[in-house]
Amino acid sequence: MTATTDFTPDDQVPDRPHGLASALPRQARSAGRTAQPGADGGAAFDADLFRAVFRRHAAGVAVVTASGPHGPVGFTATSLTSVAVEPPLLSFGISLGSSCWPAVAEASFVGVHVLGEHQQALAALFARSGADRFGPATAWSPGPHGVPLLDGVAAWLVGRIAGRVPAGDHRIVVAEAVAGDPHGPGGPLLYHQGGFHRLPG
Ligand SMILES: Cc1cc2nc3c(=O)[nH]c(=O)nc-3n(C[C@H](O)[C@H](O)[C@H](O)COP(=O)(O)O)c2cc1C
Repeated sequence: MTATTDFTPDDQVPDRPHGLASALPRQARSAGRTAQPGADGGAAFDADLFRAVFRRHAAGVAVVTASGPHGPVGFTATSLTSVAVEPPLLSFGISLGSSCWPAVAEASFVGVHVLGEHQQALAALFARSGADRFGPATAWSPGPHGVPLLDGVAAWLVGRIAGRVPAGDHRIVVAEAVAGDPHGPGGPLLYHQGGFHRLPG
């Protein structure tokens, strides 16, 4: 396994409200916590424990974009997944509380951008509530089907939305790829233990 190089202190990373960067006391991270049985005898699973496990899950960082009725929208996501090749399906999870959800709920197409290691600031911008994500700091242009495409990413796809699957307080959006480019610059930007990382070397 390849080690990662941390180049962002945890306290510079915006918290992810529903998951990965939710702050846990450091003692809790290393105390070997386990699930406790619920009052009804069933499995009541501790939310902090759930988050703590996923803090150990290193993930690539993506930005999902869509064209909404009030302009472009987009958010940082680690939930991007390759689902199938025949047909070429991808998925990502989106919180129903996301400022982007109303636009994604109505959109026919989305853009998914695999960020490079040089794009930590972009990842932070697209995770910050209230930020001007498509302002002067962001180079982008309309791509296929009017989807906002970000410049300088490692790779991107545009997908036609095929379904929005209920999953608790999120929706799993499934889309079929219709355009893309894998030839952008940079090694991968990763997210692990509440911080951004890049592969060494
Ligand atoms: C590393 C990272 C990964 C994230 N992954 C997701 C994700 O997969 N799905 C999601 O809905 N929000 C995800 N978020 C949260 C959003 O990027 C964003 O911070 C959140 O929706 C708050 O922005 P808003 O107030 O504009 O909704 C992630 C945040 C970070 C920092």
